Formats: sequence, C-alpha cells, structure tokens
Amino acid sequence: MAVSDLREWLERVEAMGELTRVEGADPHLELGGIVDLFQWEMENPALLFERIQGHADGQRLAANVLTSLPRVLLTLGLPTHLTRQEFVREWRDRIRRMEPIAPVLVEDGPVLENRAVGERVDVTQFPAPLWHTDDGGRFLGTGCIVLTKDPDTGWVNAGTYRVQVHDEKTLGIMISPGKHGRLIRDKYWARGEACPVAVSFGHDPLLLVLGGIEVDYGVDEYAVAGGVLGEALEVVAAPETGLPVPATSELVIEGEIPIGETHAEGPFGEWTGYYAGGERDMPVINVSSVLWRNDPIVLGCLPGKPPNDNTYFRSPMRAALLWNELERAGIPGVVGAWSHEAGGGRLLNVVAVTQLYPGHAKQVGHAATSVHAGAYANRFVIVVDDDIDPTDTNEVLWALCTRTEVTEDIDIVRKMWSTSLDPMSYGSEAGRYYNNRMVIDACRPYDRLTTFPGVARKTRAEADALRAQWPDLFTPDGKARRGVASARRREG
Ligand SMILES: Cc1cc2nc3c(=O)[nH]c(=O)nc-3n(C[C@H](O)[C@H](O)[C@H](O)COP(=O)(O)O)c2cc1C
Repeated sequence: MAVSDLREWLERVEAMGELTRVEGADPHLELGGIVDLFQWEMENPALLFERIQGHADGQRLAANVLTSLPRVLLTLGLPTHLTRQEFVREWRDRIRRMEPIAPVLVEDGPVLENRAVGERVDVTQFPAPLWHTDDGGRFLGTGCIVLTKDPDTGWVNAGTYRVQVHDEKTLGIMISPGKHGRLIRDKYWARGEACPVAVSFGHDPLLLVLGGIEVDYGVDEYAVAGGVLGEALEVVAAPETGLPVPATSELVIEGEIPIGETHAEGPFGEWTGYYAGGERDMPVINVSSVLWRNDPIVLGCLPGKPPNDNTYFRSPMRAALLWNELERAGIPGVVGAWSHEAGGGRLLNVVAVTQLYPGHAKQVGHAATSVHAGAYANRFVIVVDDDIDPTDTNEVLWALCTRTEVTEDIDIVRKMWSTSLDPMSYGSEAGRYYNNRMVIDACRPYDRLTTFPGVARKTRAEADALRAQWPDLFTPDGKARRGVASARRREG
C-alpha cells in the first residue's frame, strides 16, 4: 500500500526502523552537513529534524528520505524486499499497465490551516538550510514540486526545480531549458504575461519522485500519482492562483514569475557532484500567498556527489522508463537496463540486449541516448549482451574490456541536450548547454556470435545444480560458506 502524505510516510518509515529524529541542528551548514554524511553510505535512516535552531518549535524538516531501497519501494507502493533489477522490471510493468487517475478537487484540506497574504508574507520563517559549504544561499525547495498550468491546454505540470530564498517575499527558481515548467513559463512570457506558480514544499515523497523524473509532456503527475496510489489524489485550489495543490501539503507558496526580473541565484551543490553552474542571474517568484499546516514539515532532497538522495530512486526508475521508451520506439530484444548511481542516474546508462540482427546493439545505444528518458545530460551509453547484469558494475566493465572493438564499437554523438550542472557541458556563453557523448557497443560482435570464445564460468543452471548437491558448502542464498572444515555431497 502506498501512503498519502508526508506524515503518514514518516510514520511508516519509523515503523520500519528507518527513521532518526534529530533535535537542535543549526540550519546554517550543520543540518545539511549531517544529511551529507548520512548519504555517504546508502541504506542509512531517513532524518527528521526537530527544534531546528532559529525556528519555531513545531517547524520540522525531513531529509535523506529516498536513500534506501525499501523506502523507495514503499514510496511507490511496491514490495519492500525487491532487488534493484526486480525493481526495474516491476516498475516498468506497473507503469505500462497503470491507468492514471485524475486528481479530485476538494473544498478543504490541512494545507489551508494557516494562510498569510500581503504584508504578512514571510517565507524566511520556514527552515531553508544552507546545505553545502559553498552554496550561494538558503534553499527551501529541494524536495519540492513546482506547479504551473499550460495557458493553451490547461494541463498542470508538477516538476521538481530548486528554489532559493532571497528575502521574505522573493524566491529564486532555476528551471533548465527543455524542462516542462520552463516550456510553460515561456508560453506566458511570449504572451507578455507573468507565469502563475505554486510550489509545494512538503508532501508524500511519491510526488517528489514523480516531479523529479521524466513524465511525458502533457501528462499530469497528479494523475500518475493517483494511478500509483490506486485512488485519486485530493487537491485544493490555491486561493491566489487557483493552481491545484495537494490538500495534505505541509507548505505551499504561491506567486508569479515575472518577465525579465532576475536575482543572483546559486551556486548550489548538485547531482553531478559539483557546484557547477555557479552563480547566475535567474528568474524569481514574487510571493503573494503562503499556506501551511500546523507544525509544517519541509521535505528536503539533498543533491551532491552521487550516490545521493535523488539517485537512488532515479537509477531504477530511469532504467524502467528507458526500457519502456526503447520498446515504444519499436526496438526489440531489450532484456535489462540500469542507470548508474555514479552518473547521478543520468550520465551513464547501460542497456542489455539479445542481439537479433546486425546493427541492433548500435541502434539500441543511439536510441537510448536520444529518447526522452535518456537524452538529458547523458554522457555514456553502454550496450551489453543478455548474459550481463546491467546493475553489476563489474560485469559491465568486464564486457567493456573484453567485447569492445574500439575503432568500430564506439561512436561520439555531438551537441546534445545538456545542462549547466554538467561540468563538461559547453555553450554557456550563449546561456545554452550542450554536451558530447559516447555510445559504446560492448556486446559480442554480431558477426562472431557463434564463434566468440565461451565464458569460463559455470552457467547459472549449472551453479544451482552444484549448490543443491553440496549444502554444506553453500548457504541457501547461494553464497560459499566460510569456516567449514569438511563437507559431504547430499545423500540420494
Ligand atoms: C531533488 C531534485 C532536484 C531537482 N532540481 C532541478 C532544478 O533545480 N532545475 C531543473 O531544471 N531540474 C531539476 N531537477 C530535475 C527535474 O525535476 C526533472 O528533470 C523532471 O523530469 C522535471 O520535470 P518536467 O519533466 O515536468 O520538467 C531536480 C530533480 C530532483 C529529483
């Protein structure tokens, strides 16, 4: 069962023994530092910061939320025991079969418990940490969703874009070119209008996950959330903009993004592991209204040197999306995919394929670096045969080392969709960011499939049969037992 708001999510995670409450942290570098250290290793507990220095007692902040596989699985309503590759398969099936359920508009909800407008607006009352040592300011929005409405179609997009606090009534917002929120914003600007916006800063982490991963243009993330939850998400109309916001949101800030008004924004430690992008003039949100629940909990999602809070869910979810998009592009034979954590869940994608015809592996590689799920900020695609587990780094590197003919199997693709956050992107002079990338066919050459040397290792079936004969030597999950003085073959 998926959960329905941040509070219930935290309760469930606490019941799983995966929550640590932290009292009295300083939001000036200390809080972010603790989160950073907790992310150095994955599977550490989620953190709920309480009695944050400089803030009213009830104000809280949750972070390190999606850094354990069971917590990501819980968030998506999947069984919490799945392995990474089972997760990719299960999620890919789930999204292929899933019927979106449109959100339902309700009159009231906890988010309307408190409201400030006009002179009473002060966004600095909410905990916005200075997360990393060299960040250029305090970021309230890291695990947020930014809601905008397409002025032509009425489609509402929810995207996760970072939000900096400039002063009591002004926020900074950084939306990269090509992102849906940016395309919508530009439509208002092309009409000479400011773009209305509402940002939710605390919600079921499912909404963060869906806001932070590619959902097709024109598709409502709330409806996808409804499909995952199996019931419609309840939304209320934010009073100022009319934009639908989760009825159980902890904190919503409304306003507009005016044309031409900018403020220095960043730098911010990002998912590539760098403060890339530096400080730049970025659009602002002029805040007109703030809504919050009693004792609100801000949802943080700290990027940084990967793995981090947005790579753990991104790797399996991107792999599932990529696999589905390759199939939708009419490509047969894909049997697995993985988007490596070291690449922040974008820069390094691996696809496993059963080669069916000459040129098939190259086709897979070029498509993987071009379809929506794989295009943005990718650098390497490695295509491997179906005997390689794409989630196993050693197997992938072995395939790369032993099945790649470097003059034939490596293609450079130039001038692709990138971002200021990629330290190797170029074109920044014009405010545009491109990168060059590599598609590597690390499959056995198609022309030598029948003559390629055999693999000097037991097959899975052979290994299973052998283990079954020698239970003294192997554990039920297939590991060699240590410290066994002598062993006998199983009788009978
Ligand atoms: C925690 C987190 C922070 C993100 N911050 C930004 C950001 O500041 N700007 C941006 O353009 N994309 C950011 N992204 C990536 C977008 O959320 C992602 O590309 C998503 O697909 C955008 O939604 P859209 O496809 O509706 O535009 C972030 C993702 C996550 C998970």
